[in-house]
Amino acid sequence: MKVAVTRVIPEAGLAMLRAAADVALWDQSEPPSRADLVTLGRGCDGLLTLLTDPVDGDLLDELPTVRVVSNFAVGFDNVDVPACTARGVAVCTTPDVLTETTADYAFALLMAVARRVVDGARSAAAGAWKTWEPMGFLGPDVHGATVGIIGMGRIGSAVAARAHGFGMRILYADSRPAPDAEASTGAERRDIDHVLRESDFVTLHVPLLAETRGLIGTRELKLMKPTATLINTSRGPVVQTQALVQALQEGTIWGAGLDVTDPEPLPADSPLLSMARVVITPHIASASEATRARMAELAAANVIAVLRGDRPPRCLNPEVLTRG
Ligand code: GLV
Repeated sequence: MKVAVTRVIPEAGLAMLRAAADVALWDQSEPPSRADLVTLGRGCDGLLTLLTDPVDGDLLDELPTVRVVSNFAVGFDNVDVPACTARGVAVCTTPDVLTETTADYAFALLMAVARRVVDGARSAAAGAWKTWEPMGFLGPDVHGATVGIIGMGRIGSAVAARAHGFGMRILYADSRPAPDAEASTGAERRDIDHVLRESDFVTLHVPLLAETRGLIGTRELKLMKPTATLINTSRGPVVQTQALVQALQEGTIWGAGLDVTDPEPLPADSPLLSMARVVITPHIASASEATRARMAELAAANVIAVLRGDRPPRCLNPEVLTRG
């Protein structure tokens, strides 16, 4: 068996793969180009990909030996799942293991923006801290505020648990009710416009799908309070970037914390990178040592199971596994 791995991932996963297969490892710090990916994956039975690797039908047609694409992420918008299914290729992901870590990070961003952590740190590092300032770096309280969670799945529910601990009122919008989160946190389900209107913090936890692409645009930002903050740890294209820039410049909303952007990375001259009350980080919400190791193990277990003819732990299209 031969498996291509498109970047260095934690050793826990690489060791599992090496014990089961020959590993072709892309060990550069930048993702492989399309041509590099074709060369790397040639003759491989499986691909362990990252969210920076587009996987579509044309790629698979160039790599006809591939039977599994194991994405090192819970998101899978970089993978054309129907194209994989049509070619009998299993698509696997790494949900669950990153839920709590990602929720921690969404909350860290929320607090960083509200309490001006990054603005304060930049000011101190620049030597601008002259004295204690009664009017400096003011922001809203987090405790007692209302948080609006868009997408009450695994990560949204874990954010609700943290918000509950901070004494926040919790509203959420989701196509399905989340009775467990309602029971444990008092979260109230409302339509998205209501959640946008009523919340002091709006935090996005939806996958990137056709129906969530551009979900937050000018209309939605205008529904938000001028004192509200938008947090995004889902996928950049869920928010319309230009609309957000304008909303922040015009004071339609107060602040933003974005771990994901569109495009990713932002161009160096993006106004978002230098605005006060805006915190931008480089897509690191799942980046704890333990969680990245667990993601590597799960991604490796997914590949190995498919190649051995076993049921992989987390597969999006299990129907391909049962095909003769
Ligand atoms: C990261 O964004 C992931 O989808 O795991």
